[in-house]
Amino acid sequence: MRIDILTLFPNMFSGPFAESIIKRAMDRNLISITIHNLRDWGSGKHKVVDDYPFGGGTGMVMKSEPLFEATEAIKAEGACSSAPVILLTPQGRVFNQRIAAELAALDRLILICGHYEGIDERVREHLATDEISIGDYVLTGGELAAMVVVDAVVRQLPGVLGSEDSAKDDSHTSGLLEYPQYTRPRTYRGWEVPQVLLSGNHAQIAAWHREQSILRTLSRRPELLEKADLSPEERELISARSVEKG
Ligand SMILES: C[S@@+](CC[C@H](N)C(=O)[O-])C[C@H]1O[C@@H](n2cnc3c(N)ncnc32)[C@H](O)[C@@H]1O
Repeated sequence: MRIDILTLFPNMFSGPFAESIIKRAMDRNLISITIHNLRDWGSGKHKVVDDYPFGGGTGMVMKSEPLFEATEAIKAEGACSSAPVILLTPQGRVFNQRIAAELAALDRLILICGHYEGIDERVREHLATDEISIGDYVLTGGELAAMVVVDAVVRQLPGVLGSEDSAKDDSHTSGLLEYPQYTRPRTYRGWEVPQVLLSGNHAQIAAWHREQSILRTLSRRPELLEKADLSPEERELISARSVEKG
């Protein structure tokens, strides 16, 4: 997968993309991530990329020209006119694991990070093919949102995670939250690891993981259970626990 990110603050990406799983994926050529400085497409001697809003109002608005020209140059270079162009915006569809999987199935992604008061509306209307928000709050810029999207997408790409940290049981992947995890020591300050996890019985452990996932989802995010793929016995377990809770 090739990911191009357009930003006015390219240095913000150096830390998060130079560590851990994303760096490993880049080193192994599973992904390529290119950060483009939008100021390179700014106009005039001062490389202007923003201007005052028509009609007045506070703050500056990012201009259309640098965003259109940068995106077109990136598409031409990669000979990929149909690459999805995703605008990070608090007004977009709210990002989740399903959208991460949808994006992970694509070969190319172009992400546009806004800044200041926002972006000229014509970018949304005529350049972006998708708009994504990482939650119902307003960030200073789209850079942190782009990092969140890239991280969640990249960990879903085949071969990126070793089997030791497989994503299949991750919260939200199967529609359930993940079961509780423990590591050594067996006893810490008198708190014991559940006995079943020490039993060596793989079938019992798998059953415990599944039950804990369901119960945890029931207590923290019950609305997720409506769409989860559950057996009739598991639905019964939920009803029984719900009745118990009263
Ligand atoms: C200060 S915000 C502008 C918000 C804009 N005035 C509005 O109310 O919709 C600047 C930039 O940060 C990014 N941004 C802010 N919050 C975001 C969120 N929740 N998800 C994704 N991007 C966000 C967008 O790229 C946006 O253009």
